[in-house]
Amino acid sequence: MSAFEKAMIDQINQPLKDVKYQIIGSDGVEVLCSCKDYLQLRSEEEISIKNCMVPYVAPKILDIASGAGRHSSYAKQINPRSEVTLVEQAPLLRMHCKTMIEGSTVFANIDDLPESHKFDIIMLMGLGLGVFGNEKSVRKQMYKIANLLEIGGTLLIEGGKYPEGDFYLANLEIKYQGLVDGPFQWGYATSDWLTKVLISAGLNIVSICPTTLGAPYFICQAIK
Ligand SMILES: C[S@@+](CC[C@H](N)C(=O)[O-])C[C@H]1O[C@@H](n2cnc3c(N)ncnc32)[C@H](O)[C@@H]1O
Repeated sequence: MSAFEKAMIDQINQPLKDVKYQIIGSDGVEVLCSCKDYLQLRSEEEISIKNCMVPYVAPKILDIASGAGRHSSYAKQINPRSEVTLVEQAPLLRMHCKTMIEGSTVFANIDDLPESHKFDIIMLMGLGLGVFGNEKSVRKQMYKIANLLEIGGTLLIEGGKYPEGDFYLANLEIKYQGLVDGPFQWGYATSDWLTKVLISAGLNIVSICPTTLGAPYFICQAIK
């Protein structure tokens, strides 16, 4: 079991506790992160999700690297006719999402999704850009994600830019109760970098909004 998965499952099972894990950068700096942040939504996340659901009676939604499924479970809550598909590599989090979101379908890996599946809304939220690793690989997966969208469908990506260049690849470790994830690489990009990649993948940028997390972070909404 991964350190992140164990911490999240402990938090889900003990809602009154404030479960924290450590995230360690390649500079050795340790930051304590609260699992509760991955169980609740900030107002700008709710607004972004609500806005892109407006045109649909029964939207087909894909939540990539869903964690505990907070974004797609909110979508299901505001429109119970939503058809939710989730991709999450951690088995216990996958099971949690499947149980919590009625009628949902879960996959461990984005490559497990049948190519014929198309979605009205695809979400890559909660700093999800990093799940695809290095710059070349993120670019490739953005093309793949664009192909999974229906014409007129919306892609929501939460991104952020760290120290150097347009695309920054951090080396990170996560530690919790003796479990260690990594070191693994996690990509961060500027909104300019993301805009160029999404446009070349055939999408149009609708908006890039700041988030309440602070300056480096943004939510990008793009449409096919
Ligand atoms: C920072 S958490 C964010 C979770 C969720 N999107 C949220 O905001 O609450 C990142 C999640 O991505 C999952 N993950 C990382 N790499 C992945 C991959 N290649 N495929 C599927 N899931 C992945 C991890 O297990 C973890 O649950």
